[in-house]
Amino acid sequence: MSLCLVKPFIHPSFHEVLKHMSFGDRLSFLAVHTIDKLNLWHRLPVLLGLLYLQARRTLHEKYNLIMVGERDNTPFNPDQYPYRTSNGEYNNPESVKEGSQLTFFGRNMPPMDQKDELMSPDPVMVAAKFLARRTFKDTGKQFNVIAASWIQFMIHDWIDHLEDTQQVELVAPPEIASECPLKSFKFFKTKEVPTNAQGIKSGHLNIRTPWWDASAIYGSDSNKSSKVRSFVDGKLKIGDNNLLRHMHNGIALSGDIRNSWAGVSVLQALFVKEHNAVCDALKSEYPKLTDDELYHYARLVTSAVIAKIHTIDWTVELLKTDTMNAGMHANWYGLLGKRFKSIFGHVGGTALGGLVGLDKPNNHGVPYSLTEDFTSVYRMHSLLPDTLTLRNINANPGPNKSPAILEDIKMEELIGIKGEESLASIGFERQLVSMGHQASGALELWNYPLFFRDLVAQNVDGTPRPDHVDLAALEVYRDRERNVPRYNQFRRGMLMIPISKWEDLTDDKEAIETLREVYGDDVEKLDLIVGLMAEKKIKGFAISETAFFIFIIMASRRLEADRFFTSYFNEKTYTKKGFAWVNNTESLRDVITRHFPEITTKWLNSTSAFSVWDSPPNSFNFIPLLLRIP
Ligand code: HEM
Repeated sequence: MSLCLVKPFIHPSFHEVLKHMSFGDRLSFLAVHTIDKLNLWHRLPVLLGLLYLQARRTLHEKYNLIMVGERDNTPFNPDQYPYRTSNGEYNNPESVKEGSQLTFFGRNMPPMDQKDELMSPDPVMVAAKFLARRTFKDTGKQFNVIAASWIQFMIHDWIDHLEDTQQVELVAPPEIASECPLKSFKFFKTKEVPTNAQGIKSGHLNIRTPWWDASAIYGSDSNKSSKVRSFVDGKLKIGDNNLLRHMHNGIALSGDIRNSWAGVSVLQALFVKEHNAVCDALKSEYPKLTDDELYHYARLVTSAVIAKIHTIDWTVELLKTDTMNAGMHANWYGLLGKRFKSIFGHVGGTALGGLVGLDKPNNHGVPYSLTEDFTSVYRMHSLLPDTLTLRNINANPGPNKSPAILEDIKMEELIGIKGEESLASIGFERQLVSMGHQASGALELWNYPLFFRDLVAQNVDGTPRPDHVDLAALEVYRDRERNVPRYNQFRRGMLMIPISKWEDLTDDKEAIETLREVYGDDVEKLDLIVGLMAEKKIKGFAISETAFFIFIIMASRRLEADRFFTSYFNEKTYTKKGFAWVNNTESLRDVITRHFPEITTKWLNSTSAFSVWDSPPNSFNFIPLLLRIP
């Protein structure tokens, strides 16, 4: 398609990228762009909405995957490594190192140098003016505190930036200092490492394995992996009280415990139980398997169960529309559906058969990693409330299975070593039921929990640091330090129409006034985290559309680039019993029921364990999902 022909219909921001697009891509971009101008995709009938998302994902796969660092081309025989390794090596048969611990974060768009803009406007000022919580805003019945903890549990599987030994200090500007719990604070810079490669000259290293390999429970290196193993029948260590065990200093023993809290700790414990139950089932079916074999099979199964729950349960509650429900199930099962796939196996391409079970992993020509941009859109600390409302699980349930309220416990009491002590006295069941019945915070302006503004951050081993941090201000600084584009450039980078005035971002008068006060009329200066919180949300979406478009590409990639979700997602690799275990588990509810049946019977009224538990179960809709109209 000739450039002159399409140019008049395309926003000037994209004329340059259009030059590099093929004929087909220009056509596809024109369609996506036209629908964007009409703000239409989420209002289209489900099938058309899915077509739009498919077109967008294909464009992003071509234009939004940028490699950082050198390519490792060391091949290996995948049959010699039919399991997940501790540090993530040996996944892609063409590259030993791809996706392993201490590889570079990639990028979804070119970095935006902000060396001279690190303090502009002042990050502490931005935190105080736009982020600090005034009154708690929640997500209604849509999303609960388990859902908030779940995504933190996933972050602890996927990403953590290596730090430098050099410190930076941020000081609250005098005009705002009285509103800031810390007048100044120190933290370590992100370590900048030369890439020794063409293109992007320096980058940052991920100290967790970016694969969806449940490293939050197994660890991201062999040292940690062996600490959490019992070396009997493949099992992991767990306390007698169904909670994690602790080391002599009171720190929990699990794959990743840094900057965690009781909410993540119970999820880790639940999936240690899941791992151990898989070991029991495999041992009774295949008594000759060794400890090592049982461990590796159970890790594959448990990681896949977690990835599946995230794909077809958690995300469906986060983005609660029919189109997204269909889209996420299509990622796992394909549009042909579960029944078809279980009889005929994977048939067709990614759309019909799904990403899972493809005959080859596909990294779209760019070595798998998670990205800086991905890290930034997952800055979701506002999901957390200020207190956990503890429930009484010893009395009878009230209406809709709701337990009576006992007391509120401050989040500060539930973090770190103190948090583990509190959790031991609360107990697994009470903690889980309480979190299930409490709504999460909303990702909106002025909803960042205040306890995060005076937080004891931790070292990698979970020990507390002497310097408290203002996490809200630190997050604003981090995005700039890591050269993640600011909001408007970020939108352009994601092929989204940029804003030209504050009114394009939000209808909130007070927000617009404050944006003017802090950024003047310069919409290009708007910090990403502020834009993501301020953006008008799509009905049913708990996150911004800008963040969602990063999800489209990265959520697919986590499955599609991984051999264990594609060419090695089969009975041979997982065992017949293990493969059936993954296929028969559909939700977090299923996992809770397996280990604590009385919890779901007595306290869980909602269909999903990620929505507030006293909400009504999903009602039956006789119109098939794919034929629905929003
Ligand atoms: C009580 C619970 C939590 C605590 C104590 C906590 C604490 C922290 C701390 C200290 C950092 C490092 C900041 C830095 O130096 O850059 C961090 C990073 C981060 N947190 Fe949290 N956090 C919590 C919950 C959550 C939740 C619910 C999410 C939701 C997605 C989340 C997502 C992230 C992300 C994406 C990063 C950036 C990681 C990176 O830089 O690689 N956190 N958190």
